[in-house]
Amino acid sequence: MSVAPRLNFPEGMLAGQTAIITGAGQGIGAETAAVFAREGCKVVIADIDAAKAEKTAQAINADGGAAIAVAGDITVNEDIDKLVQKASEFGGGKIHIIVNNAGYAWDDPVEKIQDKQWETIITLHNTAPFKLIRAVAPYFMVKDGEPRNIVNISSTSGIYGNAGQASYALAKAGLVGLTKTLAQEWGPGYSVRANTVAFGAIKTRLTQAPAGGYVVRPDGTKHAVGFHGGYDEAEAKWASEIPLRRIGTPTDAARATLGVVSPLFGYVTGQTIMVSGGRGGM
Ligand SMILES: NC(=O)c1ccc[n+]([C@@H]2O[C@H](COP(=O)([O-])OP(=O)(O)OC[C@H]3O[C@@H](n4cnc5c(N)ncnc54)[C@H](O)[C@@H]3O)[C@@H](O)[C@H]2O)c1
Repeated sequence: MSVAPRLNFPEGMLAGQTAIITGAGQGIGAETAAVFAREGCKVVIADIDAAKAEKTAQAINADGGAAIAVAGDITVNEDIDKLVQKASEFGGGKIHIIVNNAGYAWDDPVEKIQDKQWETIITLHNTAPFKLIRAVAPYFMVKDGEPRNIVNISSTSGIYGNAGQASYALAKAGLVGLTKTLAQEWGPGYSVRANTVAFGAIKTRLTQAPAGGYVVRPDGTKHAVGFHGGYDEAEAKWASEIPLRRIGTPTDAARATLGVVSPLFGYVTGQTIMVSGGRGGM
């Protein structure tokens, strides 16, 4: 018979913790923030879209959670510093969780990709997460007995490749190496856990048919998102290729990330958790 206590978290699985979630103005990031908040976590909504970040934070606060919005571009050094400063103030001098989630793809076949396209995607998905992690080092290389987690959001494209997504696939694969290295550097001594969560098909603005939606590029220009044959347009086709026979929801995605940072995953680090309904391999 196990001597482990019955699992019960009356204050929530993340009570007393503070999380920074990038790209949390909408989509998977916003849902992750809401799910974390319901588990007692203070959440910092970091997004380049100030209005959406504010709206998400307000909704969480209205629901009884604790959230602040910090608008900024995650690829800009000063914005990263401001984000960490605000998060530290909000968390009473502590930051426990980073979810590097902000991102989008700028796709083309290899022979057509321009340098700017390439560099934008690598900067957004690799350099920015690295710089944020480096900036929070003083909050993670500590020995206060409290949990610390880094989650880097990847994609099945980074694990299996995806025709037309060379830059995105490279960047998402790169996060796997960053995560494993971090697990080896900050695990010993500080018990920091670092894991990658790789999503398959999750229904968000990013993956719907083009509907006039856009993200703001670091240089301020607008980048249209969505693609023909997106999950809403061709849902049945996509679902037929997924063992669980459905496209994932932002809640599916958010709950998986919650699971990874929760005490239930306390002995899991350096891993890539596939959240794809089994698509692309099992
Ligand atoms: N939706 C999917 O099927 C899917 C699959 C695999 C991986 N992902 C990954 O999940 C993450 C979230 O994607 P989503 O589907 O929720 O997309 P989304 O477009 O709904 O949300 C992305 C958010 O990131 C923000 N953002 C973009 N650039 C930013 C910057 N420079 N600084 C700060 N914020 C910025 C946007 O404003 C937006 O709020 C991304 O990293 C994406 O690559 C998504």
